[in-house]
Amino acid sequence: MEELELNTNSVRELSSSTSHTANDDDDVPFLSSQALTALKEFLAEQNQSITDPDVATGGDTEVALVSEDWRLSQFWYSEETANTLAEEVLSLCKGEDSRVACISCPTLYAYLKKTDRNVSLQLLEYDKRFEQYGSDYTFYDYNQPEELPSELKHAYKVVVADPPYLSKECLEKVAETISFLRQPGESFVLLLTGEVQKERAAELLGLHPCGFRPQHSSKLGNEFRLFTNYDPGMRLGGWKK
Ligand SMILES: C[S@@+](CC[C@H](N)C(=O)[O-])C[C@H]1O[C@@H](n2cnc3c(N)ncnc32)[C@H](O)[C@@H]1O
Repeated sequence: MEELELNTNSVRELSSSTSHTANDDDDVPFLSSQALTALKEFLAEQNQSITDPDVATGGDTEVALVSEDWRLSQFWYSEETANTLAEEVLSLCKGEDSRVACISCPTLYAYLKKTDRNVSLQLLEYDKRFEQYGSDYTFYDYNQPEELPSELKHAYKVVVADPPYLSKECLEKVAETISFLRQPGESFVLLLTGEVQKERAAELLGLHPCGFRPQHSSKLGNEFRLFTNYDPGMRLGGWKK
């Protein structure tokens, strides 16, 4: 972000030194090649992708994210929250070749991929910028909860969802998708949503809140919770039934 601001400034600076054609009476300004390069860099960063986490971060701990689009209700997790969730998911997969589905939580997908490149992940997301993940990406609109490739059906041991809206209708539809995806027998469901969904999460999916409070990189007015269908024991601040 700091870098982005720096570049924004350099674009502004350079734009103020916008060149003009040889004939300064000509009303059509154009950017110097230097300013044009800075502008291109700036626009590229705005669309910056998580891409290959190793490439994006040099194998370091930082994960670069696409910019939030608030029209799509996009609020990314803080780094600490994303790391905590990734660790939890990986501990649920331990020792087994488990498959993980991330419904509308691209940040978690990115942190999981960064932490363990071998984990089998599927990101279901409405935002097509994430098509960059190739076959790990599936287009998903919660309004069509089961309009998904048949090979995804009952294929996931761990399903994590962070629905875009706090409405009853949205949670009911996402719950349908969760049921579509989870494998028969033992499966782990993690739902990140507002505290206001507590009763519904219990009713629809048998989920209960944990003590852990998810944080976002932008401050949100709503109280957020993590709900699980399993007792996390000492992890995640325990189950607060
Ligand atoms: C509250 S955000 C959750 C993001 C999560 N906190 C993260 O950091 O990855 C909601 C997500 O729902 C996605 N979304 C928006 N409209 C959607 C739709 N119609 N169907 C499914 N997902 C949608 C957004 O793109 C966004 O990733």
